[in-house]
Amino acid sequence: MTIRSSHLRGLYRKKVEERRALVADATGMSIEEIRAALKGGGLTTEIADKFVENVLGTYALPFGVALNVRVNGKNYVVPMVVEEPSVIAAASNAAKMVRSGGGFTADIDPPVMTCQVQLFDVKDGEAAAARILAEKNALLELANRAVPRLVERGGGAIDLDVRCLEGDILVTHLYVDCRDAMGANLVNKIAETVGDRIALLGRGKRGLRILSNLCDRRCVRIRAQVPERVLATETLVGSLVIEGIENASKFAEVDPYRAATHNKGIMNGIDAVCVATGNDWRAVEAGAHAFAARTGRYKPLATWRAATGADGSQILEGSLELPLALGSVGGTLRVHPAAQLALRLLGTTSAGELAAVAAAVGLASNLAAVRALATHGIQRGHMALHARTVAIAAGASADEADQVAMLIVEARDITVDGAVRALCAVRDNDGNAR
Ligand code: MEV
Repeated sequence: MTIRSSHLRGLYRKKVEERRALVADATGMSIEEIRAALKGGGLTTEIADKFVENVLGTYALPFGVALNVRVNGKNYVVPMVVEEPSVIAAASNAAKMVRSGGGFTADIDPPVMTCQVQLFDVKDGEAAAARILAEKNALLELANRAVPRLVERGGGAIDLDVRCLEGDILVTHLYVDCRDAMGANLVNKIAETVGDRIALLGRGKRGLRILSNLCDRRCVRIRAQVPERVLATETLVGSLVIEGIENASKFAEVDPYRAATHNKGIMNGIDAVCVATGNDWRAVEAGAHAFAARTGRYKPLATWRAATGADGSQILEGSLELPLALGSVGGTLRVHPAAQLALRLLGTTSAGELAAVAAAVGLASNLAAVRALATHGIQRGHMALHARTVAIAAGASADEADQVAMLIVEARDITVDGAVRALCAVRDNDGNAR
């Protein structure tokens, strides 16, 4: 499928049905397909009952799309599922800034997951490691016999190493190319298959056999260059905004308290793409934060610096690196119609491409946050969008919500009480008009 455009002017001003039509047109889908996949939140109670235990029903979240995302020269309409106002708008705005500098560039590792087999009570770790390593090829063969379909698809166990840990613990890592699957079940199966043989070779007691979510052989690296002119705000020239963003980055680089919030802004984008595409966002979160702390000190996953562009003008350069184990086949995707729709909107069947797009949206989310924080602050835009939720909480109907939100933003009183007063005013006005 060819994605014709990811730049749909004024999409946010349209009604939901009009948006569906525009997105269908931009992605080569039909509006009926979009409608059907999202009906009732995309999941019936009957299907939900097959997912997990003790099901009582389903729990819907907003499904939207980020625009303007261009990665490695290809445009994407990016599905995002998130409850927080302004995440989608902010990512789209920042992606537009990046697009004016040529878009995101992504470098994606092969889809290699790590699984661990733990031995404990190992007397001589070095000697045990040597015996295991000497059997490497046989162990990889044994592992691959457990996953014949993965091997047929060109994946499988490709390497192995051994680590001696404190407390007589010896850990064998097997590295498994999972192709387009996230791979948790595949690598767990491999770990369970080879565990006993490894325990025999290591002459230790067999412990855990499980994947590691710190899948640092499956990283994505994203870069972006943003021209100074598009960063300017109503009150600040672009060069000062660049300076502010660089300062924000340096703050996160030296302070774990700030780095945690900086990374939360990145994960706003990445998690929303993970949820939309049926991926395990807890696994992604665990990997991201472990990676952020890999030097022994918690660091930001993305950093920003002022630089000089090819034409001598000032630009802002950003980069992001994190492990990202996403699947574009299997798991939730097999059964969740909205997750299937999300992949079709993206126009990809490749897990690597999906990871690149999710990471690009993460960097866009981070850019939007640090630009707002370094200039007018986060509350202005955030509260303006939050006002619609407050209006609904005050009892406004979907038709009344925008008007009530506008009134409470104008009155700088974004509270439920303020919204109740505004709602009365809107209804009085409507009554008088009739
Ligand atoms: C809010 O969801 C995310 C931010 O706090 C991120 C940041 O501070 O960089 C705005």
